[in-house]
Amino acid sequence: MNVDVLKSELLAEVSAATDLAGLDAARVAALGKKGKVTAAMKGLSGLAPEERKSAGQALNSVKDAVAAAIEARKAELEEAALEKQLQEDRLDMSLPVRPESRGKLHPISQTMDEVVAIFGAMGLSVREGPNIEDDFHNFGALNFAEEHPARQMMDTFYLQGEDGRADQNKVLRTHTSPVQVRTMQTEKPPIRIIAPGRTYRSDYDATHTPMFHQVEGLVIDTDITFGHLKGCLQEFCDAYFEVDHVPLRFRPSYFPFTEPSAEVDIGCSRKGGELKIGEGDDWMEILGCGMVHPNVLTNCGLDPEEYQGFAFGMGIERIAMLKYGIPDLRTFYDADIRWLKHYGFAPLEAASLERGLTP
Ligand code: PHE
Repeated sequence: MNVDVLKSELLAEVSAATDLAGLDAARVAALGKKGKVTAAMKGLSGLAPEERKSAGQALNSVKDAVAAAIEARKAELEEAALEKQLQEDRLDMSLPVRPESRGKLHPISQTMDEVVAIFGAMGLSVREGPNIEDDFHNFGALNFAEEHPARQMMDTFYLQGEDGRADQNKVLRTHTSPVQVRTMQTEKPPIRIIAPGRTYRSDYDATHTPMFHQVEGLVIDTDITFGHLKGCLQEFCDAYFEVDHVPLRFRPSYFPFTEPSAEVDIGCSRKGGELKIGEGDDWMEILGCGMVHPNVLTNCGLDPEEYQGFAFGMGIERIAMLKYGIPDLRTFYDADIRWLKHYGFAPLEAASLERGLTP
């Protein structure tokens, strides 16, 4: 075996390596346990002592030369990899700042954040449900009788069934109340939740859009009264409208899923066309509420002899319009950047009761 041939062959393999994995393969092939240099070393034992000495020295020098070449090639490859990455990561610092204005939080998002912050501080946590609901969760479990006019009252969007005809089972949820049902079906009392989200009704004018938002509240335990409901809503209104004591008026009303039911008005004044919350002798409706109907508890698997509770549902757009003086509901969904600039909120400053609701 010619030691010089072996050496140049191994050095060629090292310099041919184009990446670190290839280089390591060359190292193993030369110096590894089954490598060529190692094998040649083992062959030395068959030689005469004189020959063995000189051949051993020659092989050792091959070994050193290959090891040094590997180190050098490794440094080269690492340098090249770094250079390549620097090239790819290069930023052109001479580009001007983008001229567009920064984005803002939509008043709906802001209002939802405020609502979640206030009820969150009272110990209610957020639940969500699907926007496409079935008849049972949107109506049936909520004590709407089969032919009850309230189903029509809600201007329901029915979805198309597989046969192409209207599917009487799947609907776009007309309110957030189905989340009450889903929560009672899956959680054990005490239940203290709010469910903010999108809702849909086939209606369109200055005060109605086909998609809008509600927040549902549900509190269930063994000792919940209408007094708790009033206290909870009073707390909420004072915090949300940032007024010491917003006058609230509970008007008897009807919902199939609550008994008794009420609609709640807040005291306001409309002098000179300007709306002021918390003063004056006018009233403005803001939400529906009541004690959860025993049938609803039963439909959801709770024993009405043991549990009772209250629920409420509030329009997010409506309370946003009242607090921020936004006159037309339809403008919420025009996606007009000038509108958002005017009515939007600074991002990244989450609403909290300690820090203040609005940035
Ligand atoms: N779901 C009712 C609506 O959309 C509001 C409501 C919720 C009323 C909970 C009472 C209790 O009009």
